[in-house]
Amino acid sequence: MGDLETGNPPARRGRHHPAAVSAISTTDDHRENVDRPPTTGPYGPGPMPDPIFAHPRLAAVYDDLEDDRPDLDHYEAIVTELGARSVLDVGCGTGVLALRLAATGHEVVGVDPAAASLAVARAKPHADRVRWIDGDATTLPADLQVDLAVMTGNVAQVFTTDEAWAATLAGVHAALRPGGHLVFETRRPEVRAWEGWDGRRGRTDQLEWWYDLLEVAEPLVTFRWSFRFASDGAVLTSDSTLRFRTRDEVEESLVRAGLMVSDVREAPDRPGLEMVFVAHRPG
Ligand SMILES: C[S@@+](CC[C@H](N)C(=O)[O-])C[C@H]1O[C@@H](n2cnc3c(N)ncnc32)[C@H](O)[C@@H]1O
Repeated sequence: MGDLETGNPPARRGRHHPAAVSAISTTDDHRENVDRPPTTGPYGPGPMPDPIFAHPRLAAVYDDLEDDRPDLDHYEAIVTELGARSVLDVGCGTGVLALRLAATGHEVVGVDPAAASLAVARAKPHADRVRWIDGDATTLPADLQVDLAVMTGNVAQVFTTDEAWAATLAGVHAALRPGGHLVFETRRPEVRAWEGWDGRRGRTDQLEWWYDLLEVAEPLVTFRWSFRFASDGAVLTSDSTLRFRTRDEVEESLVRAGLMVSDVREAPDRPGLEMVFVAHRPG
């Protein structure tokens, strides 16, 4: 996995609650920090998508920051294992998994509240094989019924409030056919992954990026992800807050949502670091 560890680098994920601050700077000389008040996103109790997903210039480079995404190989294997034909990708971002699954004949719906990320997805080859929805799990079509819902790249951690997480699980539950599955991963809080994030940096020919740890207030961890573009020297920053839930918290939330936990696995590409939950809607 690359520096981003699948949505995992320090940065990508929800807004800090309640003191959310998101900053977009335009250049080194003209930093324009745009502080946003704490707010929910445009589609429900979920967070506003972070600039890394929602700002067109950042969404456009998101895929470049990842490597070959071995985490998605694992998800593809689970799709096969569960025999799923139809898949809902919640927080599909730039659509990497959705397009891979569509290419192998699956019926795929990708939903994400970050329009800029969906624009990247929609511009990819064969994007018309996927049904893309601007929104989140709370705004899905009432008649949608799928065999499997997934949240890859630690999407589950963007939901910093219990309310937002419960609403997401309720939306997923409604979209699953009886017997259908939900699979997602979340980082193990006891590993304290954030301790290795501060000061991490990387670069490509086009881009330099680095992370700063802003606040640790467990279970919430807030970061700033900064990007400098080689073409014009512009610097953009994106602040994110992730919630680190324990296994018990996740299992209890799934049960409250009417889902049964079938298994809690390791992520093969990140052994010891993640919990991969496999749950199902009783049939
Ligand atoms: C780390 S990215 C992962 C994207 C993709 N799943 C992947 O593996 O590449 C997190 C994604 O969660 C999305 N997101 C943010 N708030 C959300 C919400 N309320 N509901 C669903 N997705 C959300 C972001 O826009 C972003 O695309």
